[in-house]
This record gives sequence, structure tokens and C-alpha cells, in this order.
Amino acid sequence: MARLDDLPLGLSYDDVLLVPQRSGVHSRSAVDASSRLTRRLRLAAPVVSANMDTVTEARMAIAMARAGGLGVIHRFLTVEQQVAEVARVKRAEALVISDPHTIPDSATLGEAREVADRLGVGGLVVVGDDGRVAGILTRRDMLLRDDDAAPVRGLMTPRDRLVSAPPGTGADEAAVLLRDARVEKLPLIDADDRLAGLITLRDLLQRRERPEATKDGRGRLAVGAAIGVRGDYLDRARALAEAGVDVLVLDIAHGHQEQAIRAIDRVREWVGDVDLVAGNVATPEGARDLALAGADAVKVGVGPGSACTTRVVAGVGVPQLSAVLACAEALAPHDVPLIADGGVRAGGDVAKAIAAGAETVMVGNLFARATESPGVAVTRNGKRVKVFRGMASEAAAKARMAAEGIEETEFVPVVAEGVEAVVPLAGDAAMLVHQLVGGLRSAMSYTDATTVREFQDNARFVRITVAGLRESHPHDVDM
Ligand code: XMP
Repeated sequence: MARLDDLPLGLSYDDVLLVPQRSGVHSRSAVDASSRLTRRLRLAAPVVSANMDTVTEARMAIAMARAGGLGVIHRFLTVEQQVAEVARVKRAEALVISDPHTIPDSATLGEAREVADRLGVGGLVVVGDDGRVAGILTRRDMLLRDDDAAPVRGLMTPRDRLVSAPPGTGADEAAVLLRDARVEKLPLIDADDRLAGLITLRDLLQRRERPEATKDGRGRLAVGAAIGVRGDYLDRARALAEAGVDVLVLDIAHGHQEQAIRAIDRVREWVGDVDLVAGNVATPEGARDLALAGADAVKVGVGPGSACTTRVVAGVGVPQLSAVLACAEALAPHDVPLIADGGVRAGGDVAKAIAAGAETVMVGNLFARATESPGVAVTRNGKRVKVFRGMASEAAAKARMAAEGIEETEFVPVVAEGVEAVVPLAGDAAMLVHQLVGGLRSAMSYTDATTVREFQDNARFVRITVAGLRESHPHDVDM
């Protein structure tokens, strides 16, 4: 039975501040804010968009990886749909597109247009009956033409005039070829005239513009995907791994559960060597058990989420700063990174979470406000807003059951632990990441830290009162 004397104090981000210290760091730009998401994957911007259906699908994941963070595709989709989202991220950018879209040389201009529009690509490699490259058809070749019945054969740049290179051509060499020939696409063609890949000018420019983007070993953007611990989760995990997912996130509300612990082992057995995050937990025992079970990172947070009502409905949770502090201490001997999930409203919360021992943060609400989140913005009371909902809300449960083909009359009544709401539209994800990481960098410079590890070593917190919290926010001014 619980006893009054044993009651520990639980602290939230708002209960503390970081104490400024003598510092030799003169500029935020002198700070390296990179940190580990998992044992193997490092992020230049230690921020992850949440696996929620109003936050992360392919478009958000692409924006997050380009900004140096990572997006985790939610799992309220069929396996095929979730795999397709991962595949879209993987195709968005690469040094070499290994399986470029092609069209037969017997196709018409109309067919080529339809394929290019559907796939959202700027050009198609044209392949003959014998499987050999016949030429390339780009958007430019299709412009200002009304003769949709015309065969592409007569419009393409044919093989003998095609600028191409052999497989294995590197980025620098490709850049010179594309620059000198003033073209945008470089097919890689083997000695048998077969297509072995494609390098595009756009991808080369992206590489130069965003060296901090999160990429896999093949130069493709990195992406995570969530799985559960029931039903088809093993097939889902394997299909996602085959689609090239970089991180699987085994995500359930109560991660300190026998089924979740067993699932870690099963996924490993079934999928092999894949980066596996497990959660959510909020106690040192929970964090330790997931680390011992083989998780490559542990996600911490029970109830801090902005659309979450677990603490109201079930009376369960641990205030997030205390949860992060306690779990970080438990994970340190195992060298397993901690992801602080939920309750982040601004850069200051990112700084506090990381100072407390997290290596990255997962964010829902703030990224639901981004242009790249799923769903369209609507105008409500004169403001542009988007829908945002907890994944344990009634609305999300109904959407999932509908997606699974369950009739509305058969919907099982749910005891919701989340709400559906709207959030204001707030610009693009890259800008939001920049704001959050800017706050972290600033905190690092106040505490004489040039790396996240130094920041964690140097950080000191002070607990504050309600008066301190009031003082911390703008006051006595007309906003
Ligand atoms: P923020 O505060 O960034 O938190 O919006 C995002 C995190 O909230 C969690 N989440 C939920 N928790 N009921 C819960 O108890 C829910 O319906 C729910 N939906 C999301 C989740 O950990 C997410 O990353």
C-alpha cells in the first residue's frame, strides 16, 4: 500500500529552469547540437516528429529528414499504405535512384504524361522491347505539345545523343557531366545498354544545400515507422524493413508490459538487424527492462502529450522532467539513448529535456501546425487551423476502425485517452525545427557547452515557484 512518507515529487518542464554559467561559447553557431536517436543513428537536429496520424506521413518525414531530424510514419494505416509512405520518402532523394521509372518506347506522349504526373517525376527513361535503354523523355520534351497520340520514340533524346555514365559514377563526376551538358538527368547505363540507375541535378543540389540532412548509406533520406505489438505487427515490421525503413518504433501507450518486452525479441528474430526503438515508459525500471530486452533507444513519456488525457482518465503518469531524469540514469550504464516524447512546446523544453539526459525529443502538437502535416488547413474564427488528435482519442480510434473496414454500427465503444482539437497553422517544418534547435543551441551557449554531452555534464537546474513561472513569461505588456 502507498504511504505518505514514500511519495516522491514529480517535476515538469515548467517547474525548473537551467542555470546560466560562465561560458567561453560566444555564438550559437559554435555549438554542435547533434545527438543520437538510436545507438547507431545520429541526427544533426535532435528532433523527431511524432507517429500520429495528424503529424507524420511521407511529406512530413521528408521535411524532417531534410532539416536534419527524422519523421516516424504512424501505424494507423494498412501495411501496404504504411510501406508506400516509407517508399515515398526513400524515393524523394538519393545520390543514385536505383530503380528509376521507365516507359516502353512504344508508349504515346499522352501515356508518358499520365505516368509522369501520377509518379510526380520530371522525366522517364525510355526502354525498348529488348530491355535496353532507348532514350530519355523529360518534361521539356512534353511541353507545348497537343499531339497526345504521338509516340515517345520521336520526341525523346535518343540513346546516341544521350548524356549517360557507367554504374558506380560518383557525385562529383556526375555533377561535372550534368553541368557541362546542361542537362538535369544522368542515366547510369551498363555495358549491355541496360539501365542501372539515375542521378538527377535536383538530388545533387539538395546534397550541397543541406549537408546536415539525415540520410541512409545510399544517400536516401532516413525515415522511421511505428509498429505495435499485436496482430500483423511482425509482417508489418518485415515489410517496412524491406521498404528500407531506417528505424522501427515499437510504440504502445504502456511499454513496460510483458507483451512489449517479448515483441522486441520477436521483431529482431523476424526482421534481423534493424534499429529498434521501444516505448513508452516513465520509470527507471521500465527503461532498464526495455534496454535489457535489446531496444536501441527507449521512448519516455506517459501522459505529457498535449492531446493526451491518460492522466485524467486513468490517473496514471509521471511528470515529464522527472521521468526523463530517472530513465536517463537507468539507461546510462546500457548506453541506450533516450527519446523524450511529449509535452515539448518550445525550444526551452527541448533544452530542458536534453539537459535532463534525453538525446532527442519527439514532438506532436508543434509539427501538426506545419504545412507538411497530413490534412488541409481550414479557416475557423478567422484563423487558419489544422486538426490535431491524440492517437487514443475516440476520433482516431473511429478513423482506424473505418480504415480497417469495420462498419460504424460495429464500432467498439472506446475509453478514450486523448482528445481531438485544432492547432493554428504555423509555417513549414524546417522553420519549426530551426526554432526548436535554436533554443537548444542558445541554452548550450549559456552553459558553456559545445556538444550535447558537455551540455548534459554542465547542466544545473533550479526549481521555481508559480511566481517564477509567471516571471518567466512575458508580463505587464500588451501583446
Ligand atoms: P505533444 O505534446 O508533442 O506530444 O503533442 C506528442 C505525444 O503524445 C503522445 N500521444 C498520446 N498520449 N493519448 C496519450 O496518452 C493519446 O491519445 C496520445 N496521442 C499521442 C505520443 O507519445 C506522442 O508522441
